[in-house]
Formats: sequence, C-alpha cells, structure tokens
Amino acid sequence: MSALVQWFNERAPGMGAAYKKHMTEYYAPKNFNFMYYFGSLALLVLVNQIVTGIFLTMFYTPSAAGAFDSVQYIMRDVNWGWLVRYMHETGASMFFIVIYLHMFRGLMYGSYKKPRELVWLLGMLIFLALMAEAFMGYVLPWGNMSFWGAKVIITLFSAVPVIGPHLVEWIMGTLSVPGDPTLNRFFALHVVALPMVLLLLVVLHLGALHEVGSNNPDGVDIKHGPKGNRWNPDAPADGIPFHPYYTLKDLVGVGVFLIICAIIIFFAPAVGGFFLEPDNLVKANPLVTPASIKPVWYFSPFYAILRAIPSKGIGVLALGGSIVALFLVPWLDRGKVKSIRFRGRSYKIALTLFVIVFLLLGSIGADVMPIWLGLVYGSNAEAIVSTNLLIARTLTVLYFAFFVFLWAYTFFGLERTKPVPERVTTHD
Ligand code: HEM
Repeated sequence: MSALVQWFNERAPGMGAAYKKHMTEYYAPKNFNFMYYFGSLALLVLVNQIVTGIFLTMFYTPSAAGAFDSVQYIMRDVNWGWLVRYMHETGASMFFIVIYLHMFRGLMYGSYKKPRELVWLLGMLIFLALMAEAFMGYVLPWGNMSFWGAKVIITLFSAVPVIGPHLVEWIMGTLSVPGDPTLNRFFALHVVALPMVLLLLVVLHLGALHEVGSNNPDGVDIKHGPKGNRWNPDAPADGIPFHPYYTLKDLVGVGVFLIICAIIIFFAPAVGGFFLEPDNLVKANPLVTPASIKPVWYFSPFYAILRAIPSKGIGVLALGGSIVALFLVPWLDRGKVKSIRFRGRSYKIALTLFVIVFLLLGSIGADVMPIWLGLVYGSNAEAIVSTNLLIARTLTVLYFAFFVFLWAYTFFGLERTKPVPERVTTHD
C-alpha cells in the first residue's frame, strides 16, 4: 500500500498534498455530534443521484410521446430498473431531508457566522440549484402531475413585469402548454448542466469550509485557540485529523442512513403518496387537470407561501423573499455568540417556532392541513378552505417574523447570552 502511495506521490505530488490538506491533516473539532452527519450524507446522496441517474438515462426517452412509456419500461422490463428508479426517486426526497437538517444545524450552531459566510452563501446556491434540479427531474416522467406542475411553476414567471409572458415562452419553448421542447431542455439541464453546477458548487463549498475550518456544537473557534495536539504541535489543540476519525464516525451515519433508505425503497417506496404522487402514475394529459396540483413534499412550505397570497405577483415576490431571507441570515444575525448552547432563551424559542412554522407550512402546501381541519369541520368545505387560508397567511407572516426578530434581537443588543468557554466542552 505504501509503495502504491509513493508511486502516486512521485507522479502527482499535488494529489498527495490535497489528500493531506483535506483528510489526514484537516483538523476538525473533536466535539462533532449527530448533527454533523448530514454534510457527508448529502455527498453520499449526490453520488447516488448521479450514478442511478446515468443508468436511468440509458433507458429513458426524452420525448412527450415516449417519456412516460420509457419510465414504465424501466419499471417493468429493464433488469433491476425498478430498483434504480426507486433509488433515484427516494434519493431525491432523502436529499432534501438531509439538506434541511444540514441547514438547521447551521442555524443551531451559528455556522453561517464570520468567517463562514461564504460557506453558507455557497450552500444556499447549492440549495437553489438543487431545487431547480429536483423540479426538472420531476417533469421528466411526463405523468399528469409532472405536466401540470411544470405548467403552474413556469407560468409563475408571467408575474415578472413587462417581459413576463416572453419569459414563460422562452422557458417553456412552446406557446401555451409544456411539450416536447420543454421536456428536451429540462432533460438537458437535469442530466448535464445542473449536475455539473452542483458538483462545482459542492467543491467550492467544501474548499471554502476547509480554508476557515469547521465550526462545532460549542461554536468555539478552535483555529485561533491553543495549539498542539498529539499529531501536530502547530495544529489546534482541540482538533483531530478528519481521516481516520471522522471518516469512521461518518460511516456509522452512512450505515444507519442506508438502512432507512432500504426500508423505504423495498417496503414503502411511495411513502403514502409523499415520495410517489399517485397522479403521476397517469400519462400527461393537457385536457385533464389533477384534482389538486401540488409539488413534491419538499417544496410544499414554499408553495404554501405562494398560495397564501391572493395576488400572483406578490405571491411570487413572497416566495422569492422566503429564500432570499435565508441567503441573508449571516448579515441579519448580528449576535456574537454562535452556538445555541450559549445563546439567549428567546433565540431558542424563536428557532423552535420557526421549525414548527416551516413544518406546518409544509402540511398546507402538501394539502394535508385540510384533512386535519376536516376532523373539526366535518364536510363543511367552505369552513375548511377559509380556515386553511387563514392559517397559511398567519404562518407566512410568522415565517418572515423569524428573520425580522433575528435582526432586531441582535441589532438592538437584546440577547442575554451565556459565557462561551475558551475550549470545546468535550473532554478526552
Ligand atoms: C449538495 C449539497 C451539500 C453538500 C454535499 C454539503 C456538504 C457539506 C459537508 C461535507 C460539510 C462538512 C461536514 C459538515 O459540517 O457536516 C458541510 C458544511 C457546511 N455546510 Fe454544506 N453541503 C450541502 C449543502 C449546504 C446547504 C444548502 C447549506 C446552507 C445553506 C450548507 C451550509 C453549510 C455550512 C454552514 C457548513 C459548515 C458547518 C460547520 O462547520 O458547522 N450546505 N457541507
């Protein structure tokens, strides 16, 4: 093994140096916890999506006439095709679960604060690219929900002043309803362009992180703290080499994660209609609108914000604003203390409420809330619709209130923080 390593090092010294810098000599804080699994899991899902995506592309036909049938062919006739497709489809949902938890970890431990603002910004760009990738992927099977979902989302661009209608035509590639040109461009973007963008952004994301070093659950800066650990006298005293310590720890997370994925893929791939929409098991039909057009569950909180507002233009602005607000978090939060462990009680309450609001918005966007309201109002449809709308509007206001609170609370110095320890609080 060492002869092989030496052989490589002599021919590609840069590779050996990069391996050291990012693996064996990347000193990560020794107190990473459960919440630090999700970065590596996101990488794993990204690889899964690319590999299974390549195999799906081999059998998929990107035309309005052939797409739906080619997906049925993959499911029924291609050897292990059903497995590859379920892995890809479950992978998409798991990607968002992992990313939402990864972002939540950032909010918990203040990982977006100086000097990691760029890491957060690149993360948000990844999030945008991921949303575009997932949306276009969902259109490809050309089921009825693919078709109507595409129509609804593309038509949102008509809200852009002056150029709106032209923009819709330009994106759709047709005049009125999505068709072959739409499917072809979405296919090209989903299979070639966006995966490349995602890969590039992930490399930049990790590069930016490794420049400044990882944050940790205590939010203590180990890079500028005491020096000298048992591997290197110049490295942070509270740091341990990423490899083999965290590669091994991450493998435990990978094992548990793969078991969960396997249970879903083999026993419940539809997850009650959340991962596999029943309306998408029917071929696209421009003459038959599904009873309720709704996006896949992971877009539903944002979709709920869009629908909560009667004016289309303002709804689109609110939808955009809900994502822009996340981009701005590093600058809205002026607090000096990073980790929730030492932050004021109001921040803890606000973050908990924010998560609840986000989940409830999701239940509205996914049309689950009306089912719950049915338990209260019975078959009184009017009461269900009006209460659902009232709740959606209240939650939309509360969603934005979190960001306003974050700014005001820290800008006016209202936060009562606890003293932050000099070193990380995990003892060896
Ligand atoms: C394909 C998507 C993504 C991948 C593969 C990815 C990967 C990673 C990895 C491997 C790490 C280091 C390990 C860890 O801290 O968990 C990391 C850290 C980080 N990521 Fe991501 N990430 C992705 C998306 C995002 C998004 C959407 C955000 C937020 C907007 C984000 C924000 C961060 C931050 C702030 C850190 C530093 C965390 C800390 O040091 O405490 N990432 N990411």
